[in-house]
Amino acid sequence: MSTAVSSTVREPILDRRADFPIFEQQVRGKSLVYLDNGATTQKPQQVIDAEAKFYAEQNANIHRGVHWLSQYATDLYDQARVTVQNFLHAARPEEIVFTRGTTEGINLVAYSWGMENLKEGDEILLTELEHHSNIVPWQLVAKRTGAVIKVAPVLDSGALDLDAYYQSINERTRFVGIVHVSNALGTVNPVKEMIAAAREVGACVLVDGAQAVAHMPVDVQSLDCDFYVFSGHKIYGPTGIGVLYGKYAVLDSMVPWQGGGDMIHTVSFEESTYAPVPQRFEAGTPNIAGVVGLGAALEYVQSVGLDKIDAHEQALLHYAEAQLQQLPGLEIIGQAPGKAAVVSFLVEDIHPHDLGTILDADGVAIRAGHHCAMPLMTRLGIPGTARASFALYNDFEDVDALVASLKKAQKLFGVES
Ligand code: ALA
Repeated sequence: MSTAVSSTVREPILDRRADFPIFEQQVRGKSLVYLDNGATTQKPQQVIDAEAKFYAEQNANIHRGVHWLSQYATDLYDQARVTVQNFLHAARPEEIVFTRGTTEGINLVAYSWGMENLKEGDEILLTELEHHSNIVPWQLVAKRTGAVIKVAPVLDSGALDLDAYYQSINERTRFVGIVHVSNALGTVNPVKEMIAAAREVGACVLVDGAQAVAHMPVDVQSLDCDFYVFSGHKIYGPTGIGVLYGKYAVLDSMVPWQGGGDMIHTVSFEESTYAPVPQRFEAGTPNIAGVVGLGAALEYVQSVGLDKIDAHEQALLHYAEAQLQQLPGLEIIGQAPGKAAVVSFLVEDIHPHDLGTILDADGVAIRAGHHCAMPLMTRLGIPGTARASFALYNDFEDVDALVASLKKAQKLFGVES
């Protein structure tokens, strides 16, 4: 993440709103101010066109066809895998498995790697920043294998307690699951150092990159993680498509987790043999159009430039925090140094859900609740927060609209600012 910039600077680094047709419409008679990017991002015309073109001109099932269209669709699917490989700086395309999203990627690892490799007494190390997708699958695995879950705590600032994390790693630690960027607070974990520490005891490491890949460059070889997962829809791509990166040797050692077409080599009623990776983990007809759309999304992000996206979002973050801090009774939750462009906050005497509803009347879309991170909310002693999360198309006017609407909400509740 970039270093802090002055909170009064209003010079946009990017001006790409016109790429996103959703902003052409009005919501509740107002311009749409979309600040729920942590939940999902809007789609540029390039992604919408790629999916539409696939269905209009290129649609066929992949891998099984001898006909021209099937081979063409297969080529598009394979090209998108290479696009993802390059995006993550993976060593080879076979290390990229297409999934339905982050949640499915983690479940795949939990069932295929976790169930086979963990046993009674082994330790699974997670952090208090994880969202439910990187907690519940491991609880299911722990129950079935007898492994034990350990949790590295967060500090009041929302930063991970790194000393506690490093102290939690021991020779029983067999698996470490860490979020790259917290969806609820924006905390950016120093995953490279955290992975290196896990490596010293030979633990397997999965990084949940759902909130990271749209905001910062990721190099899985440099990180040296075993697994990295993300969702297409949080990086301007379609819903229902995601990526599991796995080191080739690790993926190759794993058993299938779903059976069906495409993941087999031979099938008889006595026995089946399995396809090499990544097909071994892609049973059934995949979301081919989603894969094509995801490829277009990653190309779009690369054409804009992740460094520029980061700088733009950081400028918005610092401007937003400076304005919000001037509102009486507003508390920003999560102030970890170098955090991503997420502002979680509470406003005295107004429930986050009420805030969300009042802001919605002004066309301002934020998220309110526990953000699928109930253990983190419990640790912070709060039921939830209101959350504004930024993307490359947001601008300073969006922040102004957020602040104006919050002032209106406070007025409604009898607080004058
Ligand atoms: N994890 C998603 C969010 O933060 C759903 O909104």
